[in-house]
Amino acid sequence: MLLCSLIWGLLGVLTACQASCGDSTHCLSSNYRIDVHSHVVPPVWKQAMISAGYPVKNGTLYADGFPVPDWTLEGHISTMDSLGINYSTISVSAPGVFFVQDPTRAKSLARSINLLLFSYARAHPSRLGALCLLPLPFVNEAVDELKFCLDSLKFVGVGLYTNANGTYLGDSALDPVLSALEERNASVFVHPAAPGCTAVTLGYPIPMSEYPFDTVRAMENMLLSGQRAKYPDLKMIFAHGGGAMPYLATRISGMASLAWLGGLSVTESMAQLAGYYFDTASAASALQLTALKSFIGADQIVTGTDYPYVPFAQAEPALAAIKTNGNFSTRDMCHINHRNALEVFPRIKRILGI
Ligand SMILES: *[C@@H]1O[C@H](CO)[C@@H](O)[C@H](O)[C@H]1NC(C)=O
Ligand SMILES: *[C@@H]1O[C@H](CO)[C@@H](O)[C@H](O)[C@H]1NC(C)=O
Ligand SMILES: *[C@@H]1O[C@H](CO)[C@@H](O)[C@H](O)[C@H]1NC(C)=O
Ligand SMILES: *[C@@H]1O[C@H](CO)[C@@H](O)[C@H](O)[C@H]1NC(C)=O
Ligand SMILES: *[C@@H]1O[C@H](CO)[C@@H](O)[C@H](O)[C@H]1NC(C)=O
Repeated sequence: MLLCSLIWGLLGVLTACQASCGDSTHCLSSNYRIDVHSHVVPPVWKQAMISAGYPVKNGTLYADGFPVPDWTLEGHISTMDSLGINYSTISVSAPGVFFVQDPTRAKSLARSINLLLFSYARAHPSRLGALCLLPLPFVNEAVDELKFCLDSLKFVGVGLYTNANGTYLGDSALDPVLSALEERNASVFVHPAAPGCTAVTLGYPIPMSEYPFDTVRAMENMLLSGQRAKYPDLKMIFAHGGGAMPYLATRISGMASLAWLGGLSVTESMAQLAGYYFDTASAASALQLTALKSFIGADQIVTGTDYPYVPFAQAEPALAAIKTNGNFSTRDMCHINHRNALEVFPRIKRILGI
């Protein structure tokens, strides 16, 4: 605590220690904001998608039927400043690298991107923390890469996708990855990806409703396959308010209790499905936050913007509306702004010296 006060004192924010979440164990002011859901768009990744045949229309690259935004590191930091975001974890959005169908090439592209993520975070150590990109569905390569990111480069966490080329979280093929993550007490951010059967989108952008459904599918598969029960302590964030999970959890738990689906206890299934952290990206309306608050509570909601896919003009009012739309107390907002994120990412605490 003394060291902590000294550090922040030197930075001229000594008073923040007294003004923290209503107790004195913490140094950050209640509005210190951590965005767990922001993306980088490295040029090498864009180029690889173009080479792999992702469509470019009128000069704009599309992935999953959605334009891949322009991005620069400087723009990322200045947007954080404008949004009042103190610290962001940075990850690569879907489709990751799973369009690369060869393990050696997938690993090499993931490695290039991870080295860039490392350089971005190193350029702004008090503002950015990198989440490792894994070359899934290639499991051995993915385990190697997560060791490199977490053990050698000291990334703050790992990014996963709901599925990688059709291999879903919950698939026992991914056990070596989850086991290596659990051994390291790693922090995991799960971003949705396109499902295998994109015909059901009726030609609309996949992120609109297929991303939320894929998020449900991943958690549902982890429940029914028993994988979450095998790795119960991994701290996992699911993006976009957990997709449709707050609304569907009781239905899924009810079905999972049927004898021929495994006869799981409804109470235990509900507890498992509510045992994740969910972020506020595209999930900041009163309707969504009321459901989130009721399902997981304020202590498992983390701030997310989805910048730059969600542009400043949408991210700003969404952040500003969280408190009112969720009818959250100042104490709750302290948790949603940064406390919960620091629970998930203890490495950020260490970096910030708190
Ligand atoms: C194509 O891009 C240019 C420049 O960005 C823009 O002015 C124009 O409206 C776009 N056309 C279509 C059909 O989207
Ligand atoms: C966090 O960001 C806010 C808004 O930009 C700023 O006023 C505050 O000083 C920052 N806090 C720290 C500890 O950097
Ligand atoms: C990716 O999915 C496609 C379509 O199901 C399949 O043909 C291909 O073998 C998969 N690639 C890998 C590396 O699993
Ligand atoms: C895992 O992280 C939590 C904090 O998030 C900490 O309480 C716990 O001691 C850690 N466990 C190990 C084995 O490092
Ligand atoms: C907001 O929360 C307060 C305190 O928990 C509660 O008394 C009040 O009824 C809530 N308002 C609404 C509109 O839910």
